[in-house]
Amino acid sequence: MKGFTVLPTALAALGIFRSAFAFNAPPGVLTWCGKAYEPTNASFNPGGQFNYPKPQSAALLYVTVEPRYSIFLESDGGGSFIVNAPISYIFGQSFNNVTYTNTDGGKRTLVPGPFTTLAIDIMVEDTGMLLVSDFVDVNSTGSLFSFSFSGLKARDKPYSISLYGTSLDGYQSYSATTEIYILPDRTDGGSAVKIDNLYGGLWVQNKKNNWSGWYAVYPSGFYTDANYIFQSPDNLYAYQDAGMTSINLVPDDTTFDYTTLDQYWDMMDEINLLNLYDMRYTYTNTTSVTEQVNMFKNRTTLLMWYTGDEPDGAGDALNSTKLAYKAIKAIDPYHPVSLVLNCANFYFKDYAAGADILFEDAYPVGINATWSKPFDTPCNATYGDCGCDECVGELEDVSNRLDTFAAYQAALETPSKPLWSVLQGFGGDGYWNTVPSEAEFLAMIMLSINHNAKGLSSWWYPSSAPIQTIMGTIGKILQASPVIDFVYGTNPVSKLAVKNGPLLDVASWTVGSQMMVGIANGNVVATNQEVTITLPATVTSVNTTVYGNANWAVSDGKLQKKGLDGLEADILIVNIAS
Ligand SMILES: *[C@@H]1O[C@H](CO)[C@@H](O)[C@H](O)[C@H]1NC(C)=O
Ligand SMILES: *[C@@H]1O[C@H](CO)[C@@H](O)[C@H](O)[C@H]1NC(C)=O
Ligand SMILES: *[C@@H]1O[C@H](CO)[C@@H](O)[C@H](O)[C@H]1NC(C)=O
Ligand SMILES: *[C@@H]1O[C@H](CO)[C@@H](O)[C@H](O)[C@H]1NC(C)=O
Ligand SMILES: *[C@@H]1O[C@H](CO)[C@@H](O)[C@H](O)[C@H]1NC(C)=O
Ligand SMILES: *[C@@H]1O[C@H](CO)[C@@H](O)[C@H](O)[C@H]1NC(C)=O
Ligand SMILES: *[C@@H]1O[C@H](CO)[C@@H](O)[C@H](O)[C@H]1NC(C)=O
Ligand SMILES: *[C@@H]1O[C@H](CO)[C@@H](O)[C@H](O)[C@H]1NC(C)=O
Ligand SMILES: *[C@@H]1O[C@H](CO)[C@@H](O)[C@H](O)[C@H]1NC(C)=O
Ligand SMILES: *[C@@H]1O[C@H](CO)[C@@H](O)[C@H](O)[C@H]1NC(C)=O
Repeated sequence: MKGFTVLPTALAALGIFRSAFAFNAPPGVLTWCGKAYEPTNASFNPGGQFNYPKPQSAALLYVTVEPRYSIFLESDGGGSFIVNAPISYIFGQSFNNVTYTNTDGGKRTLVPGPFTTLAIDIMVEDTGMLLVSDFVDVNSTGSLFSFSFSGLKARDKPYSISLYGTSLDGYQSYSATTEIYILPDRTDGGSAVKIDNLYGGLWVQNKKNNWSGWYAVYPSGFYTDANYIFQSPDNLYAYQDAGMTSINLVPDDTTFDYTTLDQYWDMMDEINLLNLYDMRYTYTNTTSVTEQVNMFKNRTTLLMWYTGDEPDGAGDALNSTKLAYKAIKAIDPYHPVSLVLNCANFYFKDYAAGADILFEDAYPVGINATWSKPFDTPCNATYGDCGCDECVGELEDVSNRLDTFAAYQAALETPSKPLWSVLQGFGGDGYWNTVPSEAEFLAMIMLSINHNAKGLSSWWYPSSAPIQTIMGTIGKILQASPVIDFVYGTNPVSKLAVKNGPLLDVASWTVGSQMMVGIANGNVVATNQEVTITLPATVTSVNTTVYGNANWAVSDGKLQKKGLDGLEADILIVNIAS
């Protein structure tokens, strides 16, 4: 839930935000995530639960094609496609594990063998122009095929792309489609921002690199009180000096005072502080969205657009996020669109359809997950509002929510979008008894990174000094080598096996002959047992302790350490056996 004040009081926030009359609710019943929460109203089924498709018994071949990046620029010269061809029991086209080959040519005898290779052609739909003609292994994912832009004019409109795949005997065929943007280079001072569809990272081209090539940005920052920032340029500079790479200025009313915003945005352009432009109060008004996008789309530090702020909680129309998305893309194809979802399980597919990047904002610190403090009711899957929807009230709610959203996405027939975490940087009132401690905040950051968050934001700035400091400290580490090379160079393997660390969450990222290891202890109590972590490869030595405890050692190809601090968080680079 988002409020106007630094520490939103339940009542202020309730009066303003938790006021939807929608979906299955009887008339006059206020809801959050579709559920009644006032003690005077009864529980009912809110609906909108995610529908996991049922696997079928026969194997299917699920061929998909996607551009490597959400946009290409003319000056890139060429691009690449990601082709996946996994065996699936949910999506895809029928698959028979037989291909005939003509072994003794002259006699035309066809000999059956396994179907292991798919021949693919990738072409531009309207012209039939062939971009790729190649082969992909059956049951493989993440194959890359490059193509040149020669003959493809840069334009604002995407090109429709088709893939045709056949078994080598031509008897079995498959098809898939996608769109690619090949955009004119920016000559108006604006930025271009692309999403890596393979590993989820963000890459920017703007004034900072003189519009030459792309640089990686791991966004880390806060939703900030724009009125606080606008009190003095010093507030803006102090924010960036702390280490934050991105900012989300939140207007205190429907829109900004554009004169002040322009002054401050000029300063942000000078220091390359990247903004998530926030349209939370206006995103359902496409006229207003169009006006705002036209005003700011040429800013060199525009990172992305931000539309719905918990549209699922508020019960906004199911088409609202998609309508805003379309309005934005029609006039600005150069930037991603983002939004945050607050509910655990309420019309995920519909609300998520209106974004390129999805945020989760489970706030677990200081809550009572099963009893609503402001309303004195139970909270469960059909009733009540405890400030963190269907949470357990532990730090792991953050990583669990990332995993839940990842599982929803994997069960949809659309490509998965990068996920970000919005971390609790407030508390002390309403649903939340306390502001997280520095260690709790850090643990939530590590849990997020370990569970594949590709960006971090926190509600709310100004926060406590320790929270601001730790966000900046980790923000700087994430933005620099070697960490960004791992986090943007692959996807993590999460939930690795740990001995003697029941709440120790560990993930690894392997790039070349090294692995980054992220370690987050969810236990507040220190222990002194010998802890062993088994990684997906044999570790030969610790290369660097990038952050945290430097006592991890290698034993028998595993990481080992005597004892864990409460809420310990470590980032290591290790060398692995080839
Ligand atoms: C829900 O609670 C409100 C506020 O107390 C009350 O006015 C309304 O009649 C209740 N509606 C139902 C259907 O229970
Ligand atoms: C196809 O059959 C071969 C030979 O039996 C087997 O190795 C392979 O795993 C099978 N492939 C699939 C996708 O079932
Ligand atoms: C397909 O690949 C997956 C993931 O690598 C593997 O678990 C599965 O056994 C493979 N299936 C077949 C039929 O080869
Ligand atoms: C930026 O790029 C332009 C066009 O390539 C070039 O003329 C200019 O010298 C570059 N400026 C800097 C500061 O590198
Ligand atoms: C939508 O935005 C436009 C442009 O800012 C404004 O004129 C109009 O009043 C808004 N509509 C509503 C219903 O708020
Ligand atoms: C943005 O740049 C375009 C040209 O690319 C120009 O037509 C438009 O006026 C500019 N908008 C602003 C607000 O500067
Ligand atoms: C969006 O949904 C609302 C509410 O269901 C509906 O009234 C409206 O017509 C829809 N708008 C469009 C453009 O589909
Ligand atoms: C939540 O509130 C209920 C009811 O007041 C209480 O019994 C329970 O102990 C509380 N749980 C926590 C974790 O505070
Ligand atoms: C949730 O709590 C309400 C109120 O106690 C109860 O009526 C309802 O059956 C509960 N729902 C579930 C799914 O347990
Ligand atoms: C750590 O890794 C870096 C980068 O690969 C390498 O240059 C350095 O020699 C390694 N140091 C140790 C102690 O392994």
